[in-house]
Amino acid sequence: KVNKELIRQQQLLIQSEKLASLGKLSAGVAHELNSPLTGILSFAHFIKDASKENPQVQNDIAVVIHETERCKKIIKGLLDFARQSQPEKKKEDLLAVLNRTLSLIENHKDFKNIKIIRDFSESLPLIMFDRDQIQQVFMNLLVNSQEAMPEGGSIYISAKPSPDGNYIQIQFTDTGSGISEEHLNKIFDPFFTTKEKGTGLGLSIVLGIIENHGGKLEVKSRIGEGSTFIVRLPINHSEK
Ligand SMILES: Nc1ncnc2c1ncn2[C@@H]1O[C@H](COP(=O)(O)OP(=O)(O)O)[C@@H](O)[C@H]1O
Ligand SMILES: [Mg+2]
Repeated sequence: KVNKELIRQQQLLIQSEKLASLGKLSAGVAHELNSPLTGILSFAHFIKDASKENPQVQNDIAVVIHETERCKKIIKGLLDFARQSQPEKKKEDLLAVLNRTLSLIENHKDFKNIKIIRDFSESLPLIMFDRDQIQQVFMNLLVNSQEAMPEGGSIYISAKPSPDGNYIQIQFTDTGSGISEEHLNKIFDPFFTTKEKGTGLGLSIVLGIIENHGGKLEVKSRIGEGSTFIVRLPINHSEK
């Protein structure tokens, strides 16, 4: 049992090193690619405007625009992924950030058929974290849940102190497709995706951010039975 835990810890370590070096590489490449892509996109729009009476050209250039926008989306994912390195932590109210993220998504059309169930502890201590990064964590998890239930469903969200009192834990449980055992140990790998239009970067960003906060991420899922992601962020008792 001890051995198994050791192996798991080692795997986690390898994972974070892999993430760190990939982060640096991605930042450079993404930066370099962003401006030529912006150029391609503006000139494609010029061609589109100049070819109003040629439907064939209009169709072809629409494809160029669509695919270029997709490249830009991947690049943005890479930049987000690379930017995760240094969190700017301040003492903040986690529930305020969670509520703000929820108010953003609740008005979005993709979440129209999704019921959000809130189960939040009355008073949680303020903890140190980077507001933008943690918002990105919540957003990524919520969007993944939504994408796992395109026909609608529910997301149960609880926020409370962990049983040992050392963390605030936020649990997201959806009624979506679930994740097969085979995929469960790949979902945190950068670029692993099962979606046609996925980037596979969401969960590696999430994991990187949580690790940089000294937190933990747990996943429980079974195919066909929905998924649960639990985020644990440390309560620093020494800081008053
Ligand atoms: N809530 C969820 N329900 C089902 N599958 C999930 C969920 N969250 C993540 N996954 C799986 O993990 C993969 C990786 O997720 P992510 O890193 O966010 O990349 P992407 O969303 O671009 O595919 C997804 O493609 C999906 O297969
Ligand atoms: Mg995702």
